[in-house]
Amino acid sequence: ALIVTLGVSWLAIAGPACADDGYDLWLRTPKAVAGPAAVTAIGDSATIRLAADALRRALPAGTPAVTVATAGDPQVAALRLPFAGLGDEGYLVRRVSLGGRQVLLVAGNSDRGALYGAFALLRAVGDGADAAAVTLRSAPKVKLRVLDHWDNLDGTVERGFAGQSLWDWWSLPDFDDPRYTDYARANASIGINGTVLNNVNAKADSLTAPYIAKAAKLAAVFRPWGIKVYLSARFSAPIELGGLKTADPRDPAVAAWWKAKADEIYRAIPDFGGFLVKANSEGQPGPRDYGASHADGANMLAAAVRPHGGIVMWRAFVYAETDPEDRAKQAYSEFKPLDGKFADNVLVQVKNGAIDFQPREPFHPLFGAMPKTPLMIEFQITKEYLGFATHLAYLGPLFAETLHARTGRKPGETVADVVDGSAEGHRLTGMAGVANIGRDRDWSGSTFNQANWYAFGRLAWDPDLDPAAIAREWAGLTFGNDPQVIATTTAMMAGSREAVVDYTGAFGLAHLMATGHHYGPGPWVADLARPEWNPTYYHRADRGGIGFERGASGSDAIAQYAPSVARQLAKPETTPERELLWFHHVAWDRRMADGRTLWEDLVAHYDAGVAYVATMQSQWQSLRGKIDAERWQKTATYLSIQHREARWWRDASLAYWMSVNQRALPAGVAPPE
Ligand code: GCU
Repeated sequence: ALIVTLGVSWLAIAGPACADDGYDLWLRTPKAVAGPAAVTAIGDSATIRLAADALRRALPAGTPAVTVATAGDPQVAALRLPFAGLGDEGYLVRRVSLGGRQVLLVAGNSDRGALYGAFALLRAVGDGADAAAVTLRSAPKVKLRVLDHWDNLDGTVERGFAGQSLWDWWSLPDFDDPRYTDYARANASIGINGTVLNNVNAKADSLTAPYIAKAAKLAAVFRPWGIKVYLSARFSAPIELGGLKTADPRDPAVAAWWKAKADEIYRAIPDFGGFLVKANSEGQPGPRDYGASHADGANMLAAAVRPHGGIVMWRAFVYAETDPEDRAKQAYSEFKPLDGKFADNVLVQVKNGAIDFQPREPFHPLFGAMPKTPLMIEFQITKEYLGFATHLAYLGPLFAETLHARTGRKPGETVADVVDGSAEGHRLTGMAGVANIGRDRDWSGSTFNQANWYAFGRLAWDPDLDPAAIAREWAGLTFGNDPQVIATTTAMMAGSREAVVDYTGAFGLAHLMATGHHYGPGPWVADLARPEWNPTYYHRADRGGIGFERGASGSDAIAQYAPSVARQLAKPETTPERELLWFHHVAWDRRMADGRTLWEDLVAHYDAGVAYVATMQSQWQSLRGKIDAERWQKTATYLSIQHREARWWRDASLAYWMSVNQRALPAGVAPPE
């Protein structure tokens, strides 16, 4: 009886019902591991050792012998494997004969390549592949794959929904929190190679000696994982820290101050990545304060970091009170004329859409419009406008929708082609994601939010990947390979972002959220100080119709797109319905493709969004007992919050639209509560 009891309790501990706080992300050690696989490393770099350790931790026993190495090792070179074209960070995994032994070789031109190869092998094995038969070869299409932390020096995180900042500025640089290493491992496992430590709404203090020392400590932890540190720079720092009277980029004293500052940083962090700058946007200082251009500002900073191999990521997210006609036009208006004027170590960082990380935005018209300038795309992984940490919304489809959009500038050209440099032959390329990481045990505030971090990394490596395939891969690594669990979780994820679009406002409606915190609905808000902060500015609903007219009779923002795209968007009839109200003001009674009126369809989308969440709830119920209790329960609770709030969005929005359009609800639709 004792044996039976022990057996049962052991199962209870080891089985899926056991508690799990989600700390291990997608890097869980498979249950089948009964002892370390035979892994050897050739070469003595810290990175090679980490690659070998990662494999030892997670490869199932019985895996054939694995060797981690770089292409330059004479034994490996003798094999004449196809390392050409893999660049600094690519890898290959091959069954070879090395020193008379059959081994699975994991190698790259550099030790970082080998590290990425090790994680690729683990992904493949985690996905059910037989290690002995794995053959892989891949190189990243995008050079800078960067997380932007909007972390403040006081430990808060702007738009962060996963607890306080991971960086403990108090105990740095002395205390090396093991979490920094775990963070680096997780990022390296999906190919992220850069991290901006501090908020774009930067404080000058982050550039003072004490903070440089703290950043240097983090850089030292991250270095062997192939991750460089960057800092957001406050443009007026020469005034605040240097005592200068101006921050005018054309002033030699200002340039000299930045050069000395860069030299100081590089003395502490020899491989410092460079600066990220938000200038002349939402109250931040910038070159325009002095009548200088964004290019003047960016180039001055670029000159300061150039001798050290650094770069500048200069954000195009600008909008000023002075031009309230259409906020969506401003980035293009200011930046397009500067094409060709930026130094070659500057990337202009452009948000995926022209407003601000809404649940759906058409691709930003700058993509394809600045061929002489490397454009880095910026996504938001943290869900500022998609329900914070609680709502389940898999963002892979959102990222891919922009990346795979056709710019119309050249035949077949996609936003991904612009971003990965293939469109114009740019070698300096980048993708940034505003991180959703904090001190919560599960890092991202919820298990499914981890998928958004994961998907960002995978798409930064290869922007052409299919988000459904990424979801499948993530689900297997996160929940194990039970086919029912994978099928159910990926089915939930597949339409989850579209559900948020539906219950917050479909057909290209945007910016309808409550003021300030941006949580929950507020389409009625009309009294904010600046016109373009008001939801009413975006939806322009009146008795007759709804939507922002951006055609020739309106703001003409459509003219910022390539002619072929602009032609398609010019008329409501040829505009994709999912973006209709972004581009046009149309009648509530307009006939839609399905034969119903816009009003009827809009109502149906609100209902569909709410219903999708209800379906996710029952799908998740069906996995009870198949997923560990802690992750299961938290997700179940969050889904019930999401369901309540999806109804809140629906009901509040419908009540407001009905007060504007004076229409009844279509027959059979439940009235707002
Ligand atoms: C949004 C967000 C701000 C952020 C800004 C930015 O507007 O609400 O918190 O600072 O984006 O990207 O700079």
